[in-house]
Parts: sequence; structure tokens; C-alpha cells
Amino acid sequence: VSLQPFNTFGVDARCKQFISIEDESSLSSLFSAGHFTNSPFFVLGGGSNVLFTQDYDGLIIRIANKGITHFIEGNYIYVTAKAGEVWNDFVWYCIDRDFAGIENLALIPGTVGASPVQNIGAYGTELMDVFYSCQAFDTETGSFTSFTNADCNFTYRDSIFKTTYKGRYIITSVTYRLAVKHQINSSYGAINSELTKRNITNPTIRDIAEVVSHIRVEKLPDPSTIGNAGSFFKNPIIDINIFNKLKQEFPEIVSYIVDDTHVKLAAGWMIEKCGWKGKIDGNVATWKHQALVLTNLGEARGSEIYDTSSKIMNDVYDTFGIRLEREVNVL
Ligand code: EPU
Repeated sequence: VSLQPFNTFGVDARCKQFISIEDESSLSSLFSAGHFTNSPFFVLGGGSNVLFTQDYDGLIIRIANKGITHFIEGNYIYVTAKAGEVWNDFVWYCIDRDFAGIENLALIPGTVGASPVQNIGAYGTELMDVFYSCQAFDTETGSFTSFTNADCNFTYRDSIFKTTYKGRYIITSVTYRLAVKHQINSSYGAINSELTKRNITNPTIRDIAEVVSHIRVEKLPDPSTIGNAGSFFKNPIIDINIFNKLKQEFPEIVSYIVDDTHVKLAAGWMIEKCGWKGKIDGNVATWKHQALVLTNLGEARGSEIYDTSSKIMNDVYDTFGIRLEREVNVL
């Protein structure tokens, strides 16, 4: 089976077996049939955070179960969405019903089920701010378990599903705790300036979602026309002492304070400084408006995209002494 339609890089890798799960109970049948013990498997949501560098010699499981329910308790709305729901559709489902908290995460590609895995985040909000719990299928025991927010060990672009439990659990639904009373977060610079441009002083959650979507469309390539997986690298978090030395050499370096001892650097800025913004490398290029995004110019193999990313990492290391980490799952 070709995986080209199932990864937003549009890489034409193949897999031995492919199954689409419309109902989570099918996972139990897969388990009984021994699919989780006999050969490798990999779970795909929207395929927007994965790079296939070679054919996959195993089973690809595409999670496609759908459905959204909610109930209100006090100041909160608990919304449960099945893992196969498209994330952005879910965001607008909530905005249409006035459920607040995920408007800053509008237009992020991918599915609900993937949202906790890498703790998706954008424009001042992270998934962990609204995540309540999730249900997941344990491929080792064949049973369903639930995880609370604390269980997930969320940090920047990371969770227990990428570390301790990598490859073990399949998330089947997620419950978000959203707010009846709206708390607008327009602190991110780009949101603020776009609101000013539109003469909006008291933004609604709909305004925020629209503004965020507008910024994303301007800055990021649309995966349906240009193969990409969003930010290819994480923004590195470094020790403040190392940062202070870097700052002497590069006074204009873009950074954000994480805590008393750590600083997060804008990887896109460093990549641009190394001359990589909009640069073409064979069938691969960095995006002209956002150097953190690698794009497939059409025919790229996954291994070519990977090789370009290695060149970028080397150049950033040579210039800044910082080792970038890939944010995208490499297979
Ligand atoms: N910058 C440059 N050159 C570039 C790119 C960025 O100088 O080519 C500078 C910008 O001018 C800005 C700073 O770097 O001062 C940060 O840029 P931006 O606001 O575009 O955000 P980012 O740090 O590059 C992160 C997330 C994005 C998310 C945005 C907005 C990561 C790895 N990426 O990017 O998430 O949309 O913030 O919150 O944390 C994704 O994960 O796929 C993703 C798109």
C-alpha cells in the first residue's frame, strides 16, 4: 500500500499492511489476532508529523473513529472527541458552541488523537492547558486505560506517549476541559498586531481563531498543496548560562524565558541566520516565510528530506554550538 495520501510530506513510501480503524473495538480484534506482537506496527493520525525515510515493513494503523460529545459542569465544559476527528474541525465545533480554550490552536494539521502525543502548541496555548484525560488501548495487554493530565507528563512538544510509553498505547479518544467563561489569550505578538490591524479591541474566541488561521496561512505552507509537516525541528531549550554567552556573540538572537535557569531559542531564526531560509537542496527546500519548515518540492524521497535536515543541523551546530532536535517522527 502506498502511504503517499497518508502523510502530509507526500512521500511515496510503502507499507506491508494497512488498516483503517473506524471503531476502537476493532483494536481488540487486532490484538486477539496477534497483530501487536508478531510484527512491527505504527499508528497514524493525520500523518502530519511523520517522515517515512524508507518503506515500512509492518502494519500501519490509521485511526479514523469519529464522534464528539460534551457535558457542562460548573464553569467547565468537558468535551470528548474520538481520536480520528480532524483537529481543526474539532476546534471549530467548539467555537461554534462558544466553548473556550483551544481557539489559539486553530488550523493545526492532524487529528485529535495525536494532539496529546506531542502536546501540540501554538500562539501562546499548549494542549496541556486544556487536556483533561484520554482513553487509550494498551497494545501490550489488550485493554483500555485512561490517562489524566498528570499521568501524561506533558512538557514542551512532549508527553509520556513519546517517551516511556512510545509505541505502546493507541489513543482512542481525548477529553478536553474547556471554559464557559472566556479567557482570551492574545499575548502572542503576531496575534496582537493582526488584531490591531483589524481594529479589534475586545476579541472573541472566534476572532482569535480567525486571526490565528490567517497568520498560519500567511506563514506556513498548506500541506494539501506543498508537502510539509509543520515545524521540522523543536525550539531548543538551553541553560541560561550558555544563552548569556550566545547573546554576547549574537545580540539579536530570538529567545523566550522558560524559567529561572532555561531559555528557549527560536530555531527558525538560527536556521535563517545560517542562510537556510527559502533555500533549495535538490527536491527539498525550507519554506520562504518560515525556515523551520521543510517542504517537499514534489518528488522528494523521505531520505532526501532527512539528509537536508541533517545538513541544517550541522550548520546550526557549527554556527551556534546548538544541537537541534527533530520534532517530526522519523521512520
Ligand atoms: N523566525 C525567523 N526566521 C524564520 C522563522 C522564525 O527569524 O525563518 C523568528 C520569528 O521572526 C520569530 C521567532 O523566530 O521572532 C518565532 O517564530 P514563529 O512565531 O513563527 O514561531 P516558531 O517558534 O518558529 C513555534 C511552533 C509552531 C507554532 C508557532 C506559533 C515549535 C517547534 N513550533 O514556531 O508550531 O505554530 O511557534 O506559536 O515550537 C509545529 O509544531 O508544527 C508548528 C508549526
